[in-house]
Amino acid sequence: MSEHFKQLAAERAAEDVKSGMRLGIGTGSTAEHFVRALAVKVSEGLQVVGVPTSERTHALCVELGVPMTTLDNEPELDLTVDGADELDAHLSLIKGGGGALLREKIVAAASKEMVVIADSSKAVSRLGAFPLPIEVVPFGLEATRRSVLSVLSKLELPDVLHLREKDGQAFVTDGGHVILDAHLEDIPDARELAMELTAIPGVVDHGLFIDLATRAYVAGEDGVAEILP
Ligand code: A5P
Repeated sequence: MSEHFKQLAAERAAEDVKSGMRLGIGTGSTAEHFVRALAVKVSEGLQVVGVPTSERTHALCVELGVPMTTLDNEPELDLTVDGADELDAHLSLIKGGGGALLREKIVAAASKEMVVIADSSKAVSRLGAFPLPIEVVPFGLEATRRSVLSVLSKLELPDVLHLREKDGQAFVTDGGHVILDAHLEDIPDARELAMELTAIPGVVDHGLFIDLATRAYVAGEDGVAEILP
């Protein structure tokens, strides 16, 4: 069922896309529904260019014939459409469950608007049940891990950090980094945590997206709700 809701939210976002727009194109199963809806409109004559937020999304755009560009060619985008792992009522997000958080954040920050698409299971009153991805440079991993733990302890958050793995190896992001997933359960002050994590040398970025999303389409049993921050 949630797959159907993801599709509904994605199709609602595709209605906002107009010819001439420069798009940021997200990563994940919900964003894939958006790429499919977008590809149909492109085949019907819609003229857009998109910047994909991952190699995976890039490959899907190639397969479906969605025209692409890069942020170097188009440093300012009109609209980014992306999924989320969690969103709260202020449209603060946790992203990065798929490991694409760094490019996703760069692309969202380069966009005039960021629309989040999600099924209603992603909407929460407070962020944190979904493990927070923290992208770190492999060099000095243990030292960086200790710095992250010290921030968590200063903020009285649980000190449970897991190096993300895939097929028995450390998962490596498109940027060549690794991910520490922080199992925090509840994040009372996401803004403070975001600032503290960003200040750690070795941390490239983290999955807290604050003041980036400008709208969300959340689909559930009652249809698609539009949420503004
Ligand atoms: C990718 O790194 C993530 O930020 C995804 O946008 C997020 O995990 C949502 O993915 P799903 O749409 O597959 O739930």
